Amino acid sequence: MSRFVVSASTGSYPVFVQSDVPGIKEIPEHLFANDGRIILITDERVAGFHGATIEKHLVGLGFHPVVLTVPAGERAKKPNTVIRLCREMLQHGAQRGTPVCGFGGGVVGDIAGFVASIYMRGVPLLHIPTTLLAQVDSSVGGKTGVDLPEGKNLIGTFWAPSFVWSCTSFLSSLPARRVREGLSEALKYGYIARPDLLDRCLQIPPRSPNEDPDRLSNFVFDCISVKADVVTKDEHEKGLREILNFGHTIGHGIERIMGYRKITHGEAVAIGMVAELALGEVLGVSPKGIAQDASERLSRIGLPTMIPSGIDAQTLVEAVSHDKKNVGKKRTIITISTPGTPERIQLTDRELLKNLNLAQCAVINR
Ligand SMILES: NC(=O)c1ccc[n+]([C@@H]2O[C@H](COP(=O)([O-])OP(=O)(O)OC[C@H]3O[C@@H](n4cnc5c(N)ncnc54)[C@H](O)[C@@H]3O)[C@@H](O)[C@H]2O)c1
Ligand SMILES: [Zn+2]
Repeated sequence: MSRFVVSASTGSYPVFVQSDVPGIKEIPEHLFANDGRIILITDERVAGFHGATIEKHLVGLGFHPVVLTVPAGERAKKPNTVIRLCREMLQHGAQRGTPVCGFGGGVVGDIAGFVASIYMRGVPLLHIPTTLLAQVDSSVGGKTGVDLPEGKNLIGTFWAPSFVWSCTSFLSSLPARRVREGLSEALKYGYIARPDLLDRCLQIPPRSPNEDPDRLSNFVFDCISVKADVVTKDEHEKGLREILNFGHTIGHGIERIMGYRKITHGEAVAIGMVAELALGEVLGVSPKGIAQDASERLSRIGLPTMIPSGIDAQTLVEAVSHDKKNVGKKRTIITISTPGTPERIQLTDRELLKNLNLAQCAVINR
């Protein structure tokens, strides 16, 4: 088992990464307030695969889990779900000290985190992430929230967990497409901070990620360490944290155009990374050939690399300028000068359009 500590303004929290259940013994005493009762929020799919295992483990640790489920997938991430869960918690006697545990992917984590941050003005939170994306990304950083009909993650809070426990054996049941999503974010860490991850991403087989359990758990540990390092230095997204957006400015635009269907977030980020590297090349910030190299790596993982046909540069620029992270008129794009070194470029819509057109032979599928 590997462990590190993330510092947050509300206190620091440990992150454990291990290859197999059980193992966690280091549970902070305050989580056993209210007679060990714990609210386990999960989704129907994860409950079907791993609910019995985690319940048994929590009971073994001295908890009394109350399991509350939500439907699987993004459709559960809405305000009504949060209200329903809070009311169910009341019915089950959850008090101020009763911890909430999110057991599932990023959707469950975001919902559980939001519930924990507002129930009785805030209760302790635990994350037990079960997707690769959640283990390498969403479980650390303290962002919570749900979607509105107008857009994703429009209401939410920053609420740090008391601890995060990533057990990579849960990933055995994850569909290959979901594993690839996590690998897309992992490749991002390779480009922005840890070049060794660029090759290591290729060693995790999407259809059987757990083929070599130690390799997988070391990989998850190194990925989430990158995220932890960045969010420790910039907890509330004031500056440095924007390097985590490499691939995401264009990626979010693509997701928006495609209505968040047909393409997964990780797939859109894969295309976004290639496009943002190609933009970097056109602007002379990134070395020639880096976009092609990324494209080959992503293809080997089985991720798409070209902006889907039917999306022209103008449509993409319009979609990008709707991104809520854009402040003022310039769009921030992260690209890479050498693997491990992110660079920030700021472009007006007009400059973005011009440079996308220059880069488009590389990135737009015709
Ligand atoms: N808070 C953050 O910092 C942050 C960061 C990145 C993403 N996110 C959010 O995370 C969400 C995406 O997360 P996700 O990709 O994990 O999606 P998800 O939670 O919807 O999980 C994807 C699918 O995999 C299933 N699943 C989960 N674990 C499984 C397992 N072990 N075996 C089999 N199936 C399993 C789920 O039921 C679901 O159907 C988005 O809503 C995104 O906004 C949040
Ligand atoms: Zn992402």
